Amino acid sequence: MNSAFISDLEKFTEAEWLSAVETLLPEIHEVDRDAVRIWFRFYPLDLLNYLESAENVEEAMKGLAMEGDFGLLDKIDTSHRFLYGHRFWPLVKASVVERAESDAPFAGLEAEIRSVAAKASAAAKTQISLTTAIAAVGLMTLVQAGLDEFKAAPGMTEQAEGMMAGSPDQIVAARAKDDSQGLFGFLKTVDKKYSVAFKAMGSAGRFPVINDEEIASASQKFRERDWQSLDSRCWEGPVPIECTSASCGTCWVGVLGGAEKLSTPSDRERRQMKVFGYGQTDEEKPFIRLACQARASGNVTIVIPPWNAVFGKKVRGNVEEVELEPVTTSAAKLREAISSAVSGE
Ligand code: FES
Repeated sequence: MNSAFISDLEKFTEAEWLSAVETLLPEIHEVDRDAVRIWFRFYPLDLLNYLESAENVEEAMKGLAMEGDFGLLDKIDTSHRFLYGHRFWPLVKASVVERAESDAPFAGLEAEIRSVAAKASAAAKTQISLTTAIAAVGLMTLVQAGLDEFKAAPGMTEQAEGMMAGSPDQIVAARAKDDSQGLFGFLKTVDKKYSVAFKAMGSAGRFPVINDEEIASASQKFRERDWQSLDSRCWEGPVPIECTSASCGTCWVGVLGGAEKLSTPSDRERRQMKVFGYGQTDEEKPFIRLACQARASGNVTIVIPPWNAVFGKKVRGNVEEVELEPVTTSAAKLREAISSAVSGE
């Protein structure tokens, strides 16, 4: 059974949670500033509420063209692995549970996030600026999962690896740094080569990108493993891609570092992001992008969400009905061919 504390948290809308996160941003270390904004877009409360109130959840998901693995229930301890603060999760989790089981009066959303963050940072002997983002994630996870599921989740076991094993400042610096272009690199113009560091639920790595190439196109060429065995949406490369024309919403990604080195979104990308419902901000270089539209002119670090859908109109209700173009890519054709072959047509 949920506590009075959870009932108080449940009164806040998604917009109010996002507003609380924006208020707290100056108190959050840069390493997790965009990461926490991305996490709240990957696990949208409005979409969860919409599905929970549907008479037939499967039909509702179909109606939103939902693909992949939506929801937090099976990711209580893992959804936030792309945050630096993930390493403090056991302490944050304990602090969230302690708060949920206490009957102290509710102090307000931002104050409660700060309080959980302060307890975890004291226990970890670290700065509160490193636990505030993960504290916000912890409380929203509690709301979406419920106290019993939250407590029953087995806990984290993995250690931070690669770039994420560094200090917060080292991670920020590593994300900002471009690959060397060699001794006479400054003379190069069109053939500069960079890389895209990526993190998905089941994989992480880095693939090359040519100057001004779309992230999706670079990902398609990176076939060093069977990506589909890790994510059924990945037909070519680690980023799920279908239309390559901003029509389907499959390729959305969060940008953890290097957003300023991506091309500015076109009017079409911005409009379609509203149709999809992904919560792209109006910033010139937003942290949620379509990989098939964002061209890189330097190293970038992205995180790939485990699901995609088209829910802007039905859930957000703030977009005009837009006729989506049919998917005509090689991936879609391949799917058609396979399903015809399977059904013997
Ligand atoms: S692949 Fe369809 S929107 Fe990018």
